[in-house]
Amino acid sequence: MELKEKTPHTILNEIIEAAKECGQVMLQADRANFGIKDKAGKANFVTKYDCKIQEMLEKKLSEILPEAEFWGEEEDCQINRNAEYIFVVDPIDGTTNFIKDYHMSCVSIGLIRNGKRYMGVVHNPYLNETFYAISGEGAYMNGNAIHVSKDDLANSIVLFGSSPYNTELAKASFELAYEYFQKCLDIRRSGSAALDLCAIASGRAEIYFELILSPWDFAAGALIVEEAGGIVTTVEGEELPCLEKSSILARNK
Ligand code: IPD
Ligand code: CA
Ligand code: CA
Ligand code: CA
Repeated sequence: MELKEKTPHTILNEIIEAAKECGQVMLQADRANFGIKDKAGKANFVTKYDCKIQEMLEKKLSEILPEAEFWGEEEDCQINRNAEYIFVVDPIDGTTNFIKDYHMSCVSIGLIRNGKRYMGVVHNPYLNETFYAISGEGAYMNGNAIHVSKDDLANSIVLFGSSPYNTELAKASFELAYEYFQKCLDIRRSGSAALDLCAIASGRAEIYFELILSPWDFAAGALIVEEAGGIVTTVEGEELPCLEKSSILARNK
């Protein structure tokens, strides 16, 4: 019997299921036993749940698409960068929020295909909101199409990441935020880059910038913004890489 290849939609649905199972682990986390460890720089932590979810995803995603490479934040994974498929995963985006029980964290799973963003899933278990996109097929949240807003700068909410791990970039971030603040409605800082990108994609805010991010922070969210009709570049307006650290500027048109 010939094995049928999975369709992109089957793969996407399986990734969404995996993200939701990980979201349950976040909701049921034992707050008395987080196993918090410091990483380099200010407000940079890892909990035992970041590692547990990364392990779960490594296993589940390899069952969903066995030929794909896996790259997650919490382990030094050696990947073949030339592979056709690469999962780029942030097991918990918004770890500081997770530790503080601030309810603004998510599971973020991006799939790169032949060096381009191909699929993205961002699941926020606190609001039970799942954002997703396949390249060329639009962006969705819980089954409904989402679009960037049409508001101009004067009517914009501007989101930014404060780069807590990098003192110089943090200062520059607040300066840039103040420049925007003088021209827009107001500023927000959520603590989750992936959810910031989904806020732009769903028209809840208009501009998001951060001066340094890692590929797992934006692998899924950048595609979701693009598929919702937005633009994502580096802060300088260059093409956003898939597998490198980068600044990011996401906006409606
Ligand atoms: C962080 C969050 C935060 C952003 C940081 C990221 P983490 O990811 O996305 O919003 O400002 O740059 O590192 O460490 O919580 O996965
Ligand atoms: Ca982290
Ligand atoms: Ca992150
Ligand atoms: Ca993380």
